[in-house]
Amino acid sequence: MEEYYKQLLDNNKEWVESKTKDDPAYFTRLAQGQQPPLLWIGCADSRVPANEIIGAQPGEVFVHRNIANMVVHSDMNMLSVLDYAVNVLKVRHVIVCGHYGCGGVAAAMTNQRIGLIDNWIRHIKDVYRLHNLELDGIDDHQKRFNRFVELNVYEQVLDLAKTSIIQNAWENGQQIHLHGWVYDIKDGLIVDLDVTLKNNSSLEEVYRLTH
Ligand code: CO
Repeated sequence: MEEYYKQLLDNNKEWVESKTKDDPAYFTRLAQGQQPPLLWIGCADSRVPANEIIGAQPGEVFVHRNIANMVVHSDMNMLSVLDYAVNVLKVRHVIVCGHYGCGGVAAAMTNQRIGLIDNWIRHIKDVYRLHNLELDGIDDHQKRFNRFVELNVYEQVLDLAKTSIIQNAWENGQQIHLHGWVYDIKDGLIVDLDVTLKNNSSLEEVYRLTH
């Protein structure tokens, strides 16, 4: 335990050395500020490290992670990250990245009582309810689970679009593209769900904000 903990700090020193060996100004440059083109909303799962799986460098991705990569419209943490990313950093892309085998999504398919987290998982159950005809029609449990993961990402992309932050940005002519991805922990590959939103047009009428 103790050794594992010490190792982390040693790893850090090694990492600093590797970064500055050929580029002594590496950290001086990063310290001057950030202008990431991308906001990542992903699962807290330890197997889905945002930067690493897309080969992104420090300074490139603004990151928000929670259980099952949810966009809950009353979540002040998510809203604050989104507001800062859109209105201050002016990111051009927001990616919601789920992953097959997601424990949060798996829990939402059961009736198991876990604890406080049940209230968070409730949001994922709402996605099941929206798509219950399709999901209940899939007999194979693994296939139904995988599809639920995909539909959950899709709904979170829509929920992003419905936030006042994205609605205002689009209204003001800011170019922001919202994407939905699913990462496969079995082979490391990302599936682009091809649900990119660039404007209001695919939102149901009731969610479109105007002046
Ligand atoms: Co997960």
